[in-house]
Amino acid sequence: MTGRVLIVDDEKAMRLALKALLSKEGYEVETADGGEEAVRCIEQGSFHVVITDLSMNGVGGMQVLEHARRVDPDLAVIMITAYGSEKIAVQAMKLGAVDYLPKPFDNDEVRVVVRRVMDTVQLKRDHRRLLEQVQGDFGFEQIVGRSPAMRRVFDTIAKVADADVTVLIRGESGTGKELVANALHYRSPRRAKPLIKMNCAALSRELVESELFGHERGAFTGAIARREGKFEAADGGTLFLDEVGDMPLETQAKFLRCLQEREFERVGGNQTLKVDVRVLAATNQDLEAGVRAGKFREDLYYRLRVIELTIPPLAERREDVPLLIDHFLREAAQRFGRPAKPLTTAALRACVEHQWKGNVRELRSAVEQALLLAPGAEIDAADLVHGMAPVADALVSAPLSAPSASASPSNLRSFRDAKAAVVETFEREFLLGALRRHGGNISKAADEIGMYRQNLQQKMRELGISAEELGGDE
Ligand SMILES: Nc1ncnc2c1ncn2[C@@H]1O[C@H](COP(=O)(O)OP(=O)(O)OP(=O)(O)O)[C@@H](O)[C@H]1O
Ligand SMILES: [Mg+2]
Repeated sequence: MTGRVLIVDDEKAMRLALKALLSKEGYEVETADGGEEAVRCIEQGSFHVVITDLSMNGVGGMQVLEHARRVDPDLAVIMITAYGSEKIAVQAMKLGAVDYLPKPFDNDEVRVVVRRVMDTVQLKRDHRRLLEQVQGDFGFEQIVGRSPAMRRVFDTIAKVADADVTVLIRGESGTGKELVANALHYRSPRRAKPLIKMNCAALSRELVESELFGHERGAFTGAIARREGKFEAADGGTLFLDEVGDMPLETQAKFLRCLQEREFERVGGNQTLKVDVRVLAATNQDLEAGVRAGKFREDLYYRLRVIELTIPPLAERREDVPLLIDHFLREAAQRFGRPAKPLTTAALRACVEHQWKGNVRELRSAVEQALLLAPGAEIDAADLVHGMAPVADALVSAPLSAPSASASPSNLRSFRDAKAAVVETFEREFLLGALRRHGGNISKAADEIGMYRQNLQQKMRELGISAEELGGDE
């Protein structure tokens, strides 16, 4: 890297001498006659290093330094000071100058100092680029999973992230659609530009359109000022449209045009705006049914699903559950500043078998809550059950569903036995947990878990739990 240097001095001879010296070193050099001109140059140009004399008529070196720090904190400033004024040089360094050159200087010293400063600037830039890359990768690595289904998801992300195509991300609520959108953006060449997110659910047509395309002042009641829409905000980057299935039918035509032509008008405006935006969309709805019912435009449907990426529900990839638990435990422990607690075998088994209707989101909350609330050194099933299942689910041991894979009758039986055992352990630990929290007070425990007192007593008898041993008086 050669680098761009600005030399500031109100002495012409000095400017010329420095310019000759540094140009020979291969830098692109410009000069400013005094502080005022320097300020203008800094605002206009993109320099890496500014070398400024300290004492000049009018705007002085310190002010140039201050200005440079404000305009571009990465801009490196070297101060030229009169021989013997080390004190002032130190003060300049405190204010952010990276180095100083005492006058009169020898050419070698100037070369060495400028080279070193330029290398640092370069290093900083590399570092930033690296950071951006790492952040991009992290967006991908944050998606945990090793089931074949998730491997297919990763594979598709890797294949399509840097292609400028629309991707439709499908999956039940809480399966990680937004994470996938993040990964697609941060792995694309658009990663340094904005990723703008918008949820289409529960918005009126007027609002959706004003959100998407912006509006002009007075476009509708309440539009008191012009407003930029998400498409404009995402220019150069990515627009992630969540719950796209909820987009009002009337808006869909406008949106389709924007997808195809990359142009639109603000609501209430007639100026056509052009944007360069990649669109990612997500839905947990049956779009095909929407098309059949006339609620979702067929042309838009085909345009959106150029690439379709489906994330299966967590219950269909149970092998990911332990991995996810581990991930969330570590993350939560760090975030909350608590030691990570392991799960007991029973708790882990319960998690693997749970239905997780809320998918990964539900699992994550259950783990976080358990980490914070579990009284012991380990997380037991009872600590988890609260965030995992409605009381009714945990207490009704009735029809046990078979595992999804093709199970042989004997497998099925042992699966059922295991599950029945787990459910019983669950019930016990769940009730014990509630009773302990209320010092053995049955009424209060029943209240908390939403059971009738009599039913709780009945259940306790069946399971051989006595309130006395919990310090209760009932
Ligand atoms: N594979 C995964 N690895 C790590 N975390 C995940 C994974 N999948 C989901 N999560 C986490 O679960 C939560 C829900 O994920 P996300 O918001 O992406 O789901 P979603 O599919 O967009 O849900 P919704 O349809 O409700 O908007 C987030 O906290 C996310 O970080
Ligand atoms: Mg989401």
